[in-house]
Amino acid sequence: MRIKRASAQTLHLENGWNVLDASGGAAVTGIGHLNARVEQAMIKTLQSGLSYVSSMMFDTDITETFARFLVNTTDGKMSKAVFYSSGKSLHTASRTKLTAAGGTEANEAAFKLALQYHATEKANPEPTRKFFIARDRSYHGTTLGTLDMGGHKARRELWEKVLPNNTRSHVSPCYAYRGLRIGETKAQYVTRLANELETEIQRLGPQNVAAFICEPVVGAVSRLLFKTFVQSRGVVKHGCSASNATNCALITSQHHTSPNADFTCRLWVASPLKPGILQP
Ligand SMILES: Cc1ncc(COP(=O)(O)O)c(C=O)c1O
Repeated sequence: MRIKRASAQTLHLENGWNVLDASGGAAVTGIGHLNARVEQAMIKTLQSGLSYVSSMMFDTDITETFARFLVNTTDGKMSKAVFYSSGKSLHTASRTKLTAAGGTEANEAAFKLALQYHATEKANPEPTRKFFIARDRSYHGTTLGTLDMGGHKARRELWEKVLPNNTRSHVSPCYAYRGLRIGETKAQYVTRLANELETEIQRLGPQNVAAFICEPVVGAVSRLLFKTFVQSRGVVKHGCSASNATNCALITSQHHTSPNADFTCRLWVASPLKPGILQP
């Protein structure tokens, strides 16, 4: 189906059909098509005389302003926003931001950042921390690092032999609708999943675990958006304390809870979570 144009919530196909785009975009930017404010902002930026500069060397007011907006809307939870491209590692830690790309690259960067943090950035470096724990059926992207973290078997299958194999555990997805046992309460379910995570950290050896990565609100592969947030928040909260207790990093991937997808700026800001690394 070839789309000729799109406006607001409608996709106009070349065969004359009009299709309702109920998400108004792909999850993250649910703002509809031909949004006049976005259009004007893009035009204004282009007319300001600056369309693009390499992020390796230069800063611009636009990206700096956006980075500050992201940081300032987190009630002090976030200290730095780093916009990544090509999964670069954080050799420029003193800067507020770099230039942006997609979710895959952000997660690839988070993967490297967690390793780099343990190996070189802490007062007492722990280079042994190189294993990741993720969730079964999770999706974190399509580079080798992010496929390795992801627990979506069909998407990993073809590349299995060349994946870095740093992700040694895929714990249960947080999905009470399918995962709740007969007679189990939601609170017991949350405790069971939290215990599973802690058991995995202990099994791998806390000194070997770099990070636990998860989507607090799963949207990528299981269509669980919103439904599981409450339970997931409980598990991630336990993940937070498990991470704190064992000094492994907590990476939250918020792909589906960005502005306008959850109707607030970022759902996690309103929660008790304070992830070490956040992929918005
Ligand atoms: C949770 C999650 N992480 C990562 C990605 C990858 O993002 P991108 O397609 O922008 O590389 C997606 C894409 O759907 C996603 O849903």
